[in-house]
Amino acid sequence: MPQYLRLGRLPPKRHTEFPQSPGYKGEGLYYEEVVTTAGFGRAYSIAYHLRPPTRVTKVEPAGTVELETVDQPTLRHHHLKSGKIPRKGDPVTGRLPLLTNKDVTLSRCRPAAGQTELYRNATADEVIFVHHGRGALHTHFGVLPVRPFDYVVIPRCTTYRIDLDLDVPADLLVIESAGVVEVPPRYLNRDGQLRLGAPYYERDLRGPSELATVDSDEPTTVLIRDDRRLTRYTLANHPFDVVGWDGYLYPFAFNADDFEPITGTIHQPPPVQQTFEAPGFVICTFAPRLLDTHPQAVKVPYAHSNVQADEVLYYVRGKFGSRRGVEEASFTLHPRGIPHGPHPGTIVASRPMTRTDELAVMVDTVEPLLLTRQAMELDDATYPQSWLD
Ligand SMILES: [Fe+2]
Repeated sequence: MPQYLRLGRLPPKRHTEFPQSPGYKGEGLYYEEVVTTAGFGRAYSIAYHLRPPTRVTKVEPAGTVELETVDQPTLRHHHLKSGKIPRKGDPVTGRLPLLTNKDVTLSRCRPAAGQTELYRNATADEVIFVHHGRGALHTHFGVLPVRPFDYVVIPRCTTYRIDLDLDVPADLLVIESAGVVEVPPRYLNRDGQLRLGAPYYERDLRGPSELATVDSDEPTTVLIRDDRRLTRYTLANHPFDVVGWDGYLYPFAFNADDFEPITGTIHQPPPVQQTFEAPGFVICTFAPRLLDTHPQAVKVPYAHSNVQADEVLYYVRGKFGSRRGVEEASFTLHPRGIPHGPHPGTIVASRPMTRTDELAVMVDTVEPLLLTRQAMELDDATYPQSWLD
């Protein structure tokens, strides 16, 4: 989790009266809400609302999220080209789930419109990688500006609206995690600070920069997702009526271009690119970097089988030195148990190169990933043979 943050006004001591005059129904105080992780066991924040955050006027079913997986008759590599999927929906309703298991679901979203209804994922942390687009995430914690190549980490049970500028067509990779998304513990010293030598630093993690308190008695709907069920809540007032909060739990952004690559004289293994982790998977950033400097270094990754792991690469920007045929917004899925490696010719082609400008997001999962029906529509069935000359 990121470091302690506070915005707005707070009483000096938690769980004590915070006077507001006259206050909702003349009760004379702001209303405390404690937002937590893992029950009450992990990071939390304490927010103060103008009105009780519990006033609901209507609860309605709102359908289910479609997630149809397709049995695979063979174990094989996959290449999905998602750069031209049709635009649809908004940053929430326009998501196209492609790869999934019990721990994580990867979706692509090319929204056609702005988000019109507040959304709250009750059972998953979300990491929204902004491939294209610019705007701000609005929550009761305030306004978090977002820009291209941001990982926007939204803890579960955060009600949000992500406003993306309409003049730049947005393109998102959405990673939904059943477990808590966190900074890899090995990056932290015993005092909880990011270690010297970790590939990023506290200053690189950006929380909400300002409060934008909404004082409105207008009924406001929130679409709530728990697992695949959708429920529409109508709240008696706007939920972003917070005048202050503090704590360790809040949405934050980390820009992939702030990832400090760790390089060597010879190839460094993928864990040096780890960015976040969650139960059952890790997220890594393949950032622009200096290539290996040993005079005989093989500058593209060695062939390997993923042992007890499925490996997904999402290609964001630049030329991908070890792959042929991939393009921006391609996914490759290299599943457990079968080897993959650099494509023919790429070792030789990399010899004169001194650096790479590639940017890619990798998701490595412990459990096998299943492909959805929509993923199979993007699949290049010839990819397994692409290592032939
Ligand atoms: Fe690999």
